[in-house]
Amino acid sequence: MIYLDNAATSFPKPPSVVKAVAGVMDKIGGNPGRAGHKGALAGGRILNRCRELAAEYAGLSSPDHVIFCLNCTDALNMAIRGTLRVGDEVLVSHAEHNAVMRPLMGYHDAGKITVRILPPDSRGLLSPDTVLSAITPRTALMVLSHASNVTGLIQPARDIARACHSQGVPLLLDAAQTAGTEDVASVHADMVAMPGHKGLLGPMGTGLLLLGDQMLPRPLREGGTGSASESLRQPTMLPDRLESGTANLPGIAGLTQGLKFMLAHRAAIAEYEHILSEQMRRGLERVPGVTLYTGPASLPHVGVVSFNIDGMDSGDVADRLNRAGIAVRGGLHCAPSIHAWLGTTGAVRASVGPFSTEADVDALVDAVRRIQRQQ
Ligand code: ALA
Repeated sequence: MIYLDNAATSFPKPPSVVKAVAGVMDKIGGNPGRAGHKGALAGGRILNRCRELAAEYAGLSSPDHVIFCLNCTDALNMAIRGTLRVGDEVLVSHAEHNAVMRPLMGYHDAGKITVRILPPDSRGLLSPDTVLSAITPRTALMVLSHASNVTGLIQPARDIARACHSQGVPLLLDAAQTAGTEDVASVHADMVAMPGHKGLLGPMGTGLLLLGDQMLPRPLREGGTGSASESLRQPTMLPDRLESGTANLPGIAGLTQGLKFMLAHRAAIAEYEHILSEQMRRGLERVPGVTLYTGPASLPHVGVVSFNIDGMDSGDVADRLNRAGIAVRGGLHCAPSIHAWLGTTGAVRASVGPFSTEADVDALVDAVRRIQRQQ
């Protein structure tokens, strides 16, 4: 199988990731923070190392501000539900994923908050001036998808963060598609949500919420933390405040190795994925009857290319590619707002990763050409 669905989860993983997951399952008996024996301490060291690497990547002042989550959706829910209060107003871009929109619209529909979707320019970029002029005294949060999981377009997040900060509004960055390739620290967002299993190259079931110094969300889950056990109340300090129950130690051990790999190669991976996605975009552009949804190639993108074949349903095209041995994702990609903006009811999305090859991209372009001819 040629795997071009890295925007959903990266595959394959570096061998060190697989080895680390298995190593914990095989060799470490102990629950971190729950005992003082050798296995529990070894597990604790793995959690600490992962926090240190994630804090280094995100530019945090302390590894304690790294919160382990189930995935990026979980991290976004923690940030959104743990921060907002009744009466607040939230600004979002037109490109948000349902991981952002569903928690927000649930509160909006219940009359608890107001959600305002800000329009992009004709290229799909959200202007910092649009953000500035939308902020009101009630604006409590801006949530921004760093790069769309459909168009791959990267938003001017640093300038948007500046606009938000000039008015005292915190920015929550959804780095689902940029974590692992972009310099997330340079955005200076107040909270960043990341999947562990995409660009950070860790296993599924891992995610991170990274908190700036001013952010202290309320916990969604409370329970045992292994700390302050004499108290019937949730600890207030990070990370325990937001991490109750046993950690996904095998997953986090894998994520630690994924982070190490990524930190050693991030610029090269970003450059390589850019070259491959440009090859894909140029190849598909030459197939008659193919419409691309990347926006201007001159703008910065992650390695995601979405397209349709005229007259064909995106799900059918994805099925036919699957039968040709190529894994992509069709449909709405859990991001209906940007599809509405693009005027599509679905698209085929091909996304590259660090282990994709030029031959993979050529195979996709050839298969799309065949499917278009045969329809
Ligand atoms: N959010 C992931 C995607 O875009 C799963 O496919």
